[in-house]
Amino acid sequence: IGMDAPKDNVILVGFMGTGKSTVGRRLAKLLGRDFIDTDVEIERLTEMTVSEIFRRHGETRFRSEERLLVKRLADQKGYVIATGGGTVLNPDNWQDLAQSGVIIGLYAPLDEIYKRIGYRNDRPLLRGDRQVVEELWAKRQPIYNQANWTVDTTDKGIDEVVQEIFDRCE
Ligand code: S3P
Repeated sequence: IGMDAPKDNVILVGFMGTGKSTVGRRLAKLLGRDFIDTDVEIERLTEMTVSEIFRRHGETRFRSEERLLVKRLADQKGYVIATGGGTVLNPDNWQDLAQSGVIIGLYAPLDEIYKRIGYRNDRPLLRGDRQVVEELWAKRQPIYNQANWTVDTTDKGIDEVVQEIFDRCE
């Protein structure tokens, strides 16, 4: 259940480090679908890493690249899409993606996220002060919670999470 039509996109949302990209790639393989990672696609299109875009042009530039990409993706069907942690904070992005498929939230508490990713990492918005990241995390949860359904990934391995989603998609 969950998917209204098999051709709908399967869209993963959630905070940085919840496993969107890794889970998405494996899930796509299992479902026999193509996989798109919005961050990777933006890096390909701009020929810059996400960090470089932030550093050289600022977050605003990154968000407009992200917006353009989502508009295009929402017209395509049958993909598994891993979004960036901030993608669906833009209500227009949320709306476009929601219309194109089922939105699945991946949840992890911040302690677990730091365990996975570490304090030193290449994510511009996760490198800062723990306090600041904590506020960001808390502020975003109500938005991620509007997903069609959410998987709590706490203490779960990638394969377990993938299987859980797969079972509900079938
Ligand atoms: C961001 C998350 C990142 C990336 C960018 C901004 C965010 O993606 O899009 O650094 O605002 O949460 P991941 O969630 O894949 O780390």
